[in-house]
Amino acid sequence: MKTSQETAAAVERLYDTYPFPPEPLLDEPPPGYNWRWNWRAAYSFCTGQTPQREEIRIIDAGCGTGVGTEYLVHLNPQASVVGIDISAGALKVAQERCRRSGADRVEFHHLSLYDVDQIEGQFDLINCVGVLHHLPDPIRGIQSIAKKLAPGGLFHIFVYAELGRWEIQLMQQAIALLQGQNQGDYQDGVKVGRQLFEALPENNRIVKRDRERWALENHQDECFADMYVHPQEIDYNIETLFELIDAAGLEFLGFSNPRYWQKERLFGKNPELMARSEGLSERQLYRLIELLDPELTHYEFFLTRPPLKRVDWSEDNDLLAAIPERHPCMTGWPSKSLFDYDYQLVKLSDEEFKFLEACDQNGSSPEDSSQTQTVAEIIKHVNFDLDGVRSLLQRQLIMLNIDR
Ligand SMILES: C[S@@+](CC[C@H](N)C(=O)[O-])C[C@H]1O[C@@H](n2cnc3c(N)ncnc32)[C@H](O)[C@@H]1O
Repeated sequence: MKTSQETAAAVERLYDTYPFPPEPLLDEPPPGYNWRWNWRAAYSFCTGQTPQREEIRIIDAGCGTGVGTEYLVHLNPQASVVGIDISAGALKVAQERCRRSGADRVEFHHLSLYDVDQIEGQFDLINCVGVLHHLPDPIRGIQSIAKKLAPGGLFHIFVYAELGRWEIQLMQQAIALLQGQNQGDYQDGVKVGRQLFEALPENNRIVKRDRERWALENHQDECFADMYVHPQEIDYNIETLFELIDAAGLEFLGFSNPRYWQKERLFGKNPELMARSEGLSERQLYRLIELLDPELTHYEFFLTRPPLKRVDWSEDNDLLAAIPERHPCMTGWPSKSLFDYDYQLVKLSDEEFKFLEACDQNGSSPEDSSQTQTVAEIIKHVNFDLDGVRSLLQRQLIMLNIDR
């Protein structure tokens, strides 16, 4: 058995050898978006309204080679960003990545999550993607970083799920057995792993799963090592996930891949099953969904430190007085056929399109309140109703502001 320090040192060595992720460095901002890294979009998703402040502090905890960090800087033009990681090798790439694309509102620290209290102050947005499951003590890690979350802030987390990673776990153990004394030599681990994939029969379950789900990513040794030669990985199920969340002492706001968690897509065509599932608690329902769709390879979700005001827009008068704006994360606008915040194809009706066009007038001069129109003002001249507005909000095609 390795001690906690030995495990952390082994993880550091892995990422010094194979900095992750190995995305190419660009001389311009990275393409597209990930709405979870856009403070206004993430805040709107979690609360139903846009945030009051945009001059915020963000920390990317376990930033790796800075792919997410770079987006966090570019997608949040008024934010200051901090990246921390235990791998000096990964940090070096992160620094160079941000320098090359002009992401200059960022500083990096060679620091463990456990020691994040060495950084002063609190953060409005914490991003911790693909990190906690590699810690020898994830509960200690989440508790350290949770202390840095400002009241009303958002904490975005991504950790592995065990159900869809079963074959990966088997391969990790097989490689370790064959490596024997060489465990910890990650280049040797990649070599053994690649030889195994070559040697195993075509219809072997591990080979089939790798080919179907992972082969595109695993061409690069950095990705192969991260997946199959990792010295420390804890995979979660709903029960152990909520033990981790509860230990953080924060409030669960919801999963950031909500489509997966819709029971309708699994048994919506059977009203009796839908009715039976009404009796389940929220966590039992999540468990039911993952049991029925065990493809799940990770959990991604938001936590907050209360108080965090949420608006459900059920009151017509509140909705009529709101200032709408078009969602910042969409591709293909202006067109009635576009990709939404999650890069899913959306077809807009004529009325929805006109409403979004009117919203754009608000976005174009946010400082000039004489130019901004409320929902009530817009629907006077666009043939649209409040349920239509609610639907646009629910599909993250608009965001709403109360107080501008
Ligand atoms: C799979 S990579 C994820 C990188 C990045 N967050 C991303 O999603 O692109 C995991 C990163 O966590 C870092 N890490 C692991 N344990 C850590 C710890 N205790 N404190 C800080 N970083 C850690 C590793 O060095 C590695 O760079």
